Amino acid sequence: MPQPVLSIRDLHKIYAGGVHAVRGVSFDVHEGESVAIIGSSGSGKSTVLRCINRLIEPSDGVIELRGEQINTPGADVNEVRSRIGMVFQSFELFAHLKVLDNVTLGLRHVRGMSKSEAEDVALEVLGRVDMLERVDAYPGNLSGGQKQRVAIARALAMKPEVILFDEPTSALDPELIGSVLQTIRGLADEGLTMVIVTHEINFARDVADRIVYMDKGQVAEEGPSSIVNDPKSERLQQFLSSMNEEN
Ligand SMILES: Nc1ncnc2c1ncn2[C@@H]1O[C@H](COP(=O)(O)OP(=O)(O)OP(=O)(O)O)[C@@H](O)[C@H]1O
Ligand SMILES: [Mg+2]
Repeated sequence: MPQPVLSIRDLHKIYAGGVHAVRGVSFDVHEGESVAIIGSSGSGKSTVLRCINRLIEPSDGVIELRGEQINTPGADVNEVRSRIGMVFQSFELFAHLKVLDNVTLGLRHVRGMSKSEAEDVALEVLGRVDMLERVDAYPGNLSGGQKQRVAIARALAMKPEVILFDEPTSALDPELIGSVLQTIRGLADEGLTMVIVTHEINFARDVADRIVYMDKGQVAEEGPSSIVNDPKSERLQQFLSSMNEEN
């Protein structure tokens, strides 16, 4: 096996206040792979992603990006974040900046590109998420699905080695979910390396190469996407039947 893009080893997170949210999570993400993380609310999925992107400090464990440990005091957080993209449930766009400027911001300030270089890259990625027609709009005038596609374009623009998606469709009205899932599916088909936390089990099964099921801060089952059709553990069986009842 070649070296993974991302390797998580025995990750723990104990929040101030004592909640032990992540309890010894390990998994690898290989080049071109899409890994879906599923699990009930509070199982620690977002905490894992936030640790990977250095938004919070893990309490213990090792996170490696192409073999290099990134959760050390000496690691450059900005460099890590420019190599690991993140797309949030709540989009996190700058309301006072037009679509184009939301996408060029990181290219200019982190990558040091000129305005015209950054705009060329921005227009290319906005085309990939089908948002070229709204480059001059402000986020407040976009639908939730459009905002999320801009947030995806912003992440793509930095050419990250892996993109983390934290429930990218759960803030959207049902009729807007499809376009965002379609965009992510396209990126997976192009071979982008990604980790997707999602409650959309059918999407995870169709798009992910591998599924990691988390329960109570631990990986309770992991395998090819077929594990959601044929779960081995009782916990995953129960989780999937509770999801079916919801839908
Ligand atoms: N900043 C925080 N301080 C203290 N506890 C926290 C903090 N953030 C999360 N937690 C707790 O850590 C646990 C895991 O939370 P996390 O957000 O990672 O779960 P999740 O699997 O992403 O859930 P959801 O599906 O609802 O998004 C929960 O018990 C949560 O209450
Ligand atoms: Mg979460």
